[in-house]
Amino acid sequence: MTKSIDVELVNIQKKFGPNVVVDSFNLQIEQGECVSFLGPSGCGKTTTLNMIAGFLEPDQGDLLIKGKRMNGVPSNKRELGMVFQTYSLFPHMTIFENVAYGLKLRKVAKVEITRRVNAILELVKLPHVAERYPKQLSGGQRQRIAIARALVTEPSLLLLDEPLSNLDAKLREELRDELKRLQQEIGITTIFVTHDQEEALYLSNRIVVLDHGKVEQIGTPWDIYNRPASEFVHTFIGKSNRMQGMVEETKGDTLLLRTDAGFTLLADRRDGSFGNGEKVTIYVRPEKIGLNTEEVVMDGINQVKGTVKQTSFLGAYTECEVEVGLYSITVRIQTVQQMIQFSQGQSVYLDWKPEDIFVFTGKGQGQ
Ligand SMILES: Nc1ncnc2c1ncn2[C@@H]1O[C@H](COP(=O)(O)OP(=O)(O)OP(=O)(O)O)[C@@H](O)[C@H]1O
Ligand SMILES: [Mg+2]
Repeated sequence: MTKSIDVELVNIQKKFGPNVVVDSFNLQIEQGECVSFLGPSGCGKTTTLNMIAGFLEPDQGDLLIKGKRMNGVPSNKRELGMVFQTYSLFPHMTIFENVAYGLKLRKVAKVEITRRVNAILELVKLPHVAERYPKQLSGGQRQRIAIARALVTEPSLLLLDEPLSNLDAKLREELRDELKRLQQEIGITTIFVTHDQEEALYLSNRIVVLDHGKVEQIGTPWDIYNRPASEFVHTFIGKSNRMQGMVEETKGDTLLLRTDAGFTLLADRRDGSFGNGEKVTIYVRPEKIGLNTEEVVMDGINQVKGTVKQTSFLGAYTECEVEVGLYSITVRIQTVQQMIQFSQGQSVYLDWKPEDIFVFTGKGQGQ
Protein backbone atom coordinates (compact mmCIF):
# COMPACT_ATOMS: atom_id res chain seq x y z
CA MET A 1 0.00 0.00 0.00
CA THR A 2 1.38 3.40 -0.90
CA LYS A 3 1.22 6.04 1.79
CA SER A 4 -0.42 9.39 1.21
CA ILE A 5 1.63 12.54 0.68
CA ASP A 6 1.33 14.91 3.67
CA VAL A 7 3.52 17.77 2.51
CA GLU A 8 4.44 18.83 -0.97
CA LEU A 9 6.75 21.64 -2.04
CA VAL A 10 6.52 22.43 -5.74
CA ASN A 11 9.22 24.68 -7.15
CA ILE A 12 9.32 26.86 -4.07
CA GLN A 13 11.41 30.01 -4.30
CA LYS A 14 12.08 32.75 -1.74
CA LYS A 15 14.02 35.95 -2.18
CA PHE A 16 15.06 38.55 0.36
CA GLY A 17 15.67 41.66 -1.70
CA PRO A 18 17.77 40.54 -4.67
CA ASN A 19 19.04 37.42 -2.88
CA VAL A 20 17.48 34.09 -3.76
CA VAL A 21 17.75 32.18 -0.46
CA VAL A 22 15.56 29.19 -1.42
CA ASP A 23 15.56 28.09 -5.05
CA SER A 24 13.46 25.50 -6.95
CA PHE A 25 12.76 23.44 -3.85
CA ASN A 26 10.79 20.31 -4.73
CA LEU A 27 9.90 17.73 -2.11
CA GLN A 28 7.17 15.26 -1.22
CA ILE A 29 6.86 14.00 2.34
CA GLU A 30 4.87 10.85 3.06
CA GLN A 31 2.52 10.50 5.97
CA GLY A 32 4.47 9.51 9.12
CA GLU A 33 7.87 10.29 7.63
CA CYS A 34 10.60 12.20 9.45
CA VAL A 35 12.53 14.36 7.00
CA SER A 36 15.53 16.48 7.98
CA PHE A 37 16.72 19.67 6.34
CA LEU A 38 20.48 19.59 6.72
CA GLY A 39 23.05 22.14 5.67
CA PRO A 40 25.47 24.83 6.80
CA SER A 41 24.41 28.07 8.45
CA GLY A 42 22.52 30.37 6.09
CA CYS A 43 21.61 27.68 3.52
CA GLY A 44 17.87 28.35 3.86
CA LYS A 45 16.64 25.70 6.33
CA THR A 46 14.69 28.02 8.64
CA THR A 47 13.36 30.07 5.71
CA THR A 48 11.92 26.91 4.14
CA LEU A 49 10.46 25.72 7.44
CA ASN A 50 8.92 29.15 8.00
CA MET A 51 7.21 28.97 4.61
CA ILE A 52 5.75 25.58 5.52
CA ALA A 53 4.69 27.02 8.90
CA GLY A 54 3.04 30.04 7.28
CA PHE A 55 5.32 32.68 8.83
CA LEU A 56 6.69 33.51 5.37
CA GLU A 57 5.10 33.34 1.94
CA PRO A 58 7.02 31.86 -1.01
CA ASP A 59 7.60 34.20 -3.97
CA GLN A 60 7.03 31.33 -6.37
CA GLY A 61 5.79 27.79 -6.22
CA ASP A 62 3.10 25.90 -4.36
CA LEU A 63 2.95 24.48 -0.88
CA LEU A 64 0.48 21.68 -0.21
CA ILE A 65 -0.40 20.11 3.11
CA LYS A 66 -2.57 16.99 2.89
CA GLY A 67 -3.27 17.81 -0.73
CA LYS A 68 -4.58 21.33 -0.01
CA ARG A 69 -2.81 24.41 -1.35
CA MET A 70 -1.61 26.41 1.65
CA ASN A 71 -0.22 29.56 0.01
CA GLY A 72 -1.80 32.47 1.86
CA VAL A 73 -3.39 30.30 4.56
CA PRO A 74 -2.56 31.70 8.04
CA SER A 75 -0.29 29.65 10.28
CA ASN A 76 -2.99 28.85 12.87
CA LYS A 77 -5.12 27.22 10.16
CA ARG A 78 -2.39 24.77 9.13
CA GLU A 79 -2.70 22.30 12.08
CA LEU A 80 0.96 22.42 13.01
CA GLY A 81 3.01 21.70 16.10
CA MET A 82 6.24 23.65 16.35
CA VAL A 83 9.37 23.59 18.49
CA PHE A 84 12.25 26.04 18.18
CA GLN A 85 15.84 26.29 19.31
CA THR A 86 15.13 28.66 22.17
CA TYR A 87 12.74 27.66 24.91
CA SER A 88 9.50 29.34 24.10
CA LEU A 89 7.46 28.48 27.21
CA PHE A 90 5.46 31.23 28.94
CA PRO A 91 7.42 32.02 32.12
CA HIS A 92 4.41 33.13 34.18
CA MET A 93 2.42 29.95 33.53
CA THR A 94 2.85 26.57 35.17
CA ILE A 95 3.90 23.63 33.01
CA PHE A 96 0.31 22.38 33.03
CA GLU A 97 -0.96 25.78 31.86
CA ASN A 98 1.76 26.00 29.23
CA VAL A 99 0.84 22.65 27.74
CA ALA A 100 -2.90 23.34 28.08
CA TYR A 101 -2.66 26.71 26.30
CA GLY A 102 -3.30 25.52 22.74
CA LEU A 103 -6.23 23.38 23.84
CA LYS A 104 -7.80 26.32 25.70
CA LEU A 105 -7.50 28.45 22.56
CA ARG A 106 -9.35 25.73 20.71
CA LYS A 107 -12.05 25.79 23.44
CA VAL A 108 -11.60 22.14 24.39
CA ALA A 109 -13.65 21.11 27.46
CA LYS A 110 -11.86 21.34 30.82
CA VAL A 111 -11.99 17.63 31.66
CA GLU A 112 -10.68 16.78 28.23
CA ILE A 113 -7.84 19.33 28.64
CA THR A 114 -6.79 17.72 31.93
CA ARG A 115 -6.89 14.26 30.39
CA ARG A 116 -4.85 15.24 27.36
CA VAL A 117 -2.26 17.33 29.20
CA ASN A 118 -1.69 14.54 31.73
CA ALA A 119 -1.39 11.97 28.95
CA ILE A 120 1.16 14.00 27.00
CA LEU A 121 3.23 14.76 30.14
CA GLU A 122 3.24 11.01 30.75
CA LEU A 123 4.44 10.47 27.16
CA VAL A 124 7.42 12.83 27.58
CA LYS A 125 8.09 11.19 30.96
CA LEU A 126 7.56 14.35 33.03
CA PRO A 127 4.22 13.80 34.80
CA HIS A 128 5.54 15.16 38.10
CA VAL A 129 6.38 18.71 36.93
CA ALA A 130 2.84 19.89 36.06
CA GLU A 131 2.65 22.43 38.87
CA ARG A 132 6.15 23.86 38.42
CA TYR A 133 7.12 26.97 36.46
CA PRO A 134 9.51 26.81 33.45
CA LYS A 135 12.41 28.33 35.43
CA GLN A 136 12.20 25.38 37.85
CA LEU A 137 13.09 22.94 35.06
CA SER A 138 16.41 22.05 33.42
CA GLY A 139 17.03 23.02 29.78
CA GLY A 140 16.37 19.48 28.57
CA GLN A 141 13.14 19.23 30.57
CA ARG A 142 11.96 22.55 29.14
CA GLN A 143 12.52 21.34 25.61
CA ARG A 144 10.56 18.16 26.40
CA ILE A 145 7.70 20.34 27.61
CA ALA A 146 7.97 22.43 24.44
CA ILE A 147 7.63 19.17 22.47
CA ALA A 148 4.65 18.09 24.65
CA ARG A 149 3.01 21.45 24.03
CA ALA A 150 3.50 21.08 20.28
CA LEU A 151 2.02 17.57 20.28
CA VAL A 152 -0.94 18.03 22.64
CA THR A 153 -3.19 19.59 19.99
CA GLU A 154 -2.62 16.49 17.83
CA PRO A 155 -1.26 18.43 14.86
CA SER A 156 -0.97 16.79 11.47
CA LEU A 157 2.59 18.01 11.06
CA LEU A 158 5.43 18.59 13.53
CA LEU A 159 8.04 21.22 12.66
CA LEU A 160 11.27 21.31 14.65
CA ASP A 161 13.91 24.00 14.15
CA GLU A 162 17.16 22.95 15.85
CA PRO A 163 15.32 21.99 19.05
CA LEU A 164 18.39 20.32 20.55
CA SER A 165 21.13 22.80 19.78
CA ASN A 166 20.95 24.73 23.06
CA LEU A 167 21.55 21.59 25.11
CA ASP A 168 24.82 20.07 26.26
CA ALA A 169 26.11 16.96 24.48
CA LYS A 170 24.73 14.36 26.88
CA LEU A 171 21.25 15.90 27.10
CA ARG A 172 21.21 16.35 23.37
CA GLU A 173 21.67 12.65 22.89
CA GLU A 174 19.03 11.79 25.48
CA LEU A 175 16.47 14.08 23.91
CA ARG A 176 17.40 12.87 20.46
CA ASP A 177 16.50 9.29 21.54
CA GLU A 178 13.31 10.61 23.11
CA LEU A 179 12.32 12.48 19.95
CA LYS A 180 12.86 9.40 17.82
CA ARG A 181 10.73 7.30 20.18
CA LEU A 182 7.92 9.89 20.27
CA GLN A 183 7.97 10.41 16.52
CA GLN A 184 7.67 6.68 15.90
CA GLU A 185 5.13 6.05 18.66
CA ILE A 186 2.79 8.79 17.46
CA GLY A 187 3.66 8.30 13.80
CA ILE A 188 3.49 12.03 13.17
CA THR A 189 4.89 13.50 9.95
CA THR A 190 7.90 15.52 11.03
CA ILE A 191 10.30 18.04 9.52
CA PHE A 192 13.47 18.46 11.49
CA VAL A 193 15.91 21.28 10.79
CA THR A 194 19.51 20.81 11.86
CA HIS A 195 23.09 21.56 10.87
CA ASP A 196 24.25 18.52 12.84
CA GLN A 197 24.79 15.65 10.41
CA GLU A 198 24.74 12.95 13.08
CA GLU A 199 21.38 14.14 14.38
CA ALA A 200 20.00 14.07 10.85
CA LEU A 201 21.36 10.57 10.17
CA TYR A 202 19.96 9.31 13.47
CA LEU A 203 16.46 10.76 13.29
CA SER A 204 15.43 10.81 9.67
CA ASN A 205 13.81 8.51 7.17
CA ARG A 206 15.13 10.89 4.54
CA ILE A 207 17.51 13.85 4.52
CA VAL A 208 17.42 16.92 2.29
CA VAL A 209 20.93 18.35 2.00
CA LEU A 210 20.88 22.06 1.21
CA ASP A 211 23.62 24.44 0.14
CA HIS A 212 23.10 28.12 -0.65
CA GLY A 213 19.34 27.68 -1.00
CA LYS A 214 19.63 24.76 -3.42
CA VAL A 215 18.76 21.13 -2.83
CA GLU A 216 21.96 19.14 -3.29
CA GLN A 217 20.46 15.73 -2.58
CA ILE A 218 17.37 14.06 -1.13
CA GLY A 219 17.86 10.54 0.11
CA THR A 220 17.87 8.04 2.95
CA PRO A 221 20.67 8.44 5.50
CA TRP A 222 22.35 5.40 3.87
CA ASP A 223 22.18 6.96 0.39
CA ILE A 224 23.46 10.31 1.56
CA TYR A 225 26.43 8.69 3.28
CA ASN A 226 27.26 6.01 0.74
CA ARG A 227 26.00 7.51 -2.52
CA PRO A 228 26.62 11.26 -2.25
CA ALA A 229 25.38 13.19 -5.26
CA SER A 230 28.13 15.78 -5.02
CA GLU A 231 31.45 16.62 -3.42
CA PHE A 232 29.61 19.02 -1.12
CA VAL A 233 27.35 16.25 0.23
CA HIS A 234 30.26 13.85 0.72
CA THR A 235 32.34 16.34 2.66
CA PHE A 236 29.45 17.75 4.68
CA ILE A 237 28.50 14.31 6.03
CA GLY A 238 31.24 12.71 8.09
CA LYS A 239 34.99 13.03 7.84
CA SER A 240 36.89 12.21 4.68
CA ASN A 241 40.50 12.26 3.46
CA ARG A 242 41.01 14.48 0.43
CA MET A 243 43.60 13.86 -2.27
CA GLN A 244 44.23 15.47 -5.64
CA GLY A 245 45.09 13.53 -8.73
CA MET A 246 44.25 12.62 -12.29
CA VAL A 247 42.58 9.85 -14.23
CA GLU A 248 45.34 7.71 -15.73
CA GLU A 249 43.00 5.25 -17.38
CA THR A 250 39.31 4.42 -17.47
CA LYS A 251 38.85 0.66 -17.39
CA GLY A 252 35.19 -0.33 -17.71
CA ASP A 253 33.66 0.07 -14.28
CA THR A 254 36.88 1.24 -12.68
CA LEU A 255 39.22 4.20 -12.85
CA LEU A 256 42.96 4.03 -12.46
CA LEU A 257 43.99 7.21 -10.67
CA ARG A 258 47.36 8.78 -9.97
CA THR A 259 47.56 11.00 -6.92
CA ASP A 260 49.74 14.09 -6.64
CA ALA A 261 51.79 12.10 -4.12
CA GLY A 262 52.74 9.70 -6.94
CA PHE A 263 50.94 6.50 -5.99
CA THR A 264 48.20 4.93 -8.07
CA LEU A 265 44.85 3.70 -6.93
CA LEU A 266 41.89 1.94 -8.38
CA ALA A 267 38.40 3.33 -7.81
CA ASP A 268 34.89 2.25 -8.80
CA ARG A 269 33.65 4.50 -11.58
CA ARG A 270 29.99 4.60 -10.49
CA ASP A 271 27.87 6.88 -12.68
CA GLY A 272 30.22 9.77 -13.32
CA SER A 273 31.83 10.53 -16.67
CA PHE A 274 35.59 10.87 -16.66
CA GLY A 275 38.16 11.40 -19.38
CA ASN A 276 41.74 10.18 -19.46
CA GLY A 277 44.05 12.82 -18.02
CA GLU A 278 41.21 14.61 -16.26
CA LYS A 279 42.02 16.24 -12.91
CA VAL A 280 39.99 14.84 -10.04
CA THR A 281 39.52 15.12 -6.29
CA ILE A 282 39.66 11.80 -4.50
CA TYR A 283 38.18 11.00 -1.09
CA VAL A 284 38.34 8.04 1.26
CA ARG A 285 36.75 7.96 4.71
CA PRO A 286 38.92 7.27 7.76
CA GLU A 287 36.89 4.19 8.77
CA LYS A 288 37.27 2.62 5.32
CA ILE A 289 41.06 2.40 5.48
CA GLY A 290 42.88 -0.68 6.70
CA LEU A 291 46.05 -0.20 8.73
CA ASN A 292 48.69 -2.92 8.98
CA THR A 293 52.28 -3.23 10.08
CA GLU A 294 53.10 -5.47 7.16
CA GLU A 295 52.29 -5.53 3.51
CA VAL A 296 49.03 -7.31 2.82
CA VAL A 297 49.40 -9.02 -0.53
CA MET A 298 46.84 -7.55 -2.89
CA ASP A 299 48.89 -7.19 -6.09
CA GLY A 300 49.97 -3.84 -4.72
CA ILE A 301 46.54 -2.40 -5.57
CA ASN A 302 45.29 0.34 -3.27
CA GLN A 303 48.04 -0.25 -0.79
CA VAL A 304 50.53 2.38 0.17
CA LYS A 305 53.31 2.71 2.72
CA GLY A 306 53.31 5.48 5.28
CA THR A 307 54.57 6.63 8.66
CA VAL A 308 52.46 7.10 11.78
CA LYS A 309 52.64 10.75 12.84
CA GLN A 310 50.18 10.76 15.69
CA THR A 311 47.63 8.51 17.40
CA SER A 312 44.62 9.67 19.39
CA PHE A 313 42.61 7.25 21.51
CA LEU A 314 38.94 8.28 21.54
CA GLY A 315 37.33 5.43 23.46
CA ALA A 316 35.30 3.57 20.86
CA TYR A 317 38.02 4.10 18.26
CA THR A 318 41.56 5.31 17.73
CA GLU A 319 42.50 7.87 15.12
CA CYS A 320 45.92 7.60 13.48
CA GLU A 321 47.43 10.32 11.35
CA VAL A 322 49.61 8.64 8.75
CA GLU A 323 52.02 10.54 6.53
CA VAL A 324 52.08 9.32 2.95
CA GLY A 325 54.26 11.58 0.79
CA LEU A 326 52.64 15.00 0.88
CA TYR A 327 49.43 13.71 2.47
CA SER A 328 48.45 13.30 6.06
CA ILE A 329 45.79 10.59 6.02
CA THR A 330 43.46 9.97 8.94
CA VAL A 331 42.64 6.34 9.69
CA ARG A 332 39.99 5.34 12.21
CA ILE A 333 40.30 1.94 13.86
CA GLN A 334 37.53 0.43 15.97
CA THR A 335 38.76 -0.42 19.44
CA VAL A 336 37.32 -3.97 19.27
CA GLN A 337 39.30 -4.75 16.12
CA GLN A 338 42.49 -3.20 17.28
CA MET A 339 45.05 -5.89 18.04
CA ILE A 340 48.12 -3.74 17.67
CA GLN A 341 49.00 -0.43 19.26
CA PHE A 342 50.44 1.89 16.66
CA SER A 343 53.14 4.30 17.70
CA GLN A 344 54.65 7.48 16.36
CA GLY A 345 57.29 7.01 13.68
CA GLN A 346 56.20 3.46 12.91
CA SER A 347 56.09 2.27 9.29
CA VAL A 348 52.65 1.08 8.27
CA TYR A 349 50.67 0.01 5.21
CA LEU A 350 47.35 1.57 4.36
CA ASP A 351 44.83 -0.19 2.16
CA TRP A 352 41.31 0.48 0.87
CA LYS A 353 38.83 -0.98 -1.56
CA PRO A 354 37.90 0.50 -4.97
CA GLU A 355 34.26 0.82 -3.85
CA ASP A 356 35.25 3.00 -0.89
CA ILE A 357 36.89 5.66 -3.02
CA PHE A 358 34.88 8.67 -4.12
CA VAL A 359 36.05 10.61 -7.15
CA PHE A 360 34.78 14.04 -8.14
CA THR A 361 35.65 16.20 -11.10
CA GLY A 362 35.91 19.99 -10.99
CA LYS A 363 32.55 20.09 -12.75
CA GLY A 364 31.05 18.71 -9.57
CA GLN A 365 29.69 15.61 -11.27
CA GLY A 366 30.47 11.96 -10.82
CA GLN A 367 31.60 10.14 -7.74
N1 LIG B 1 14.24 38.42 7.12
C1 LIG B 1 15.33 38.31 6.37
N2 LIG B 1 15.75 39.34 5.59
C2 LIG B 1 16.84 39.23 4.80
N3 LIG B 1 17.59 38.11 4.72
C3 LIG B 1 17.23 37.06 5.47
C4 LIG B 1 16.09 37.10 6.34
N4 LIG B 1 15.97 35.90 6.96
C5 LIG B 1 17.00 35.15 6.50
N5 LIG B 1 17.76 35.84 5.61
C6 LIG B 1 18.93 35.31 4.88
O1 LIG B 1 18.52 34.16 4.17
C7 LIG B 1 19.51 33.15 4.19
C8 LIG B 1 18.93 31.87 4.76
O2 LIG B 1 18.63 32.05 6.13
P1 LIG B 1 18.05 30.92 7.06
O3 LIG B 1 17.67 31.53 8.37
O4 LIG B 1 16.99 30.18 6.32
O5 LIG B 1 19.34 29.96 7.24
P2 LIG B 1 19.50 28.61 8.07
O6 LIG B 1 19.84 27.56 7.07
O7 LIG B 1 18.32 28.39 8.93
O8 LIG B 1 20.81 28.93 8.93
P3 LIG B 1 21.17 28.60 10.49
O9 LIG B 1 21.74 27.20 10.49
O10 LIG B 1 22.22 29.61 10.79
O11 LIG B 1 19.93 28.74 11.30
C9 LIG B 1 20.68 33.73 4.98
O12 LIG B 1 21.61 34.21 4.07
C10 LIG B 1 20.03 34.84 5.79
O13 LIG B 1 20.96 35.86 6.04
MG1 LIG C 1 18.02 28.39 11.02
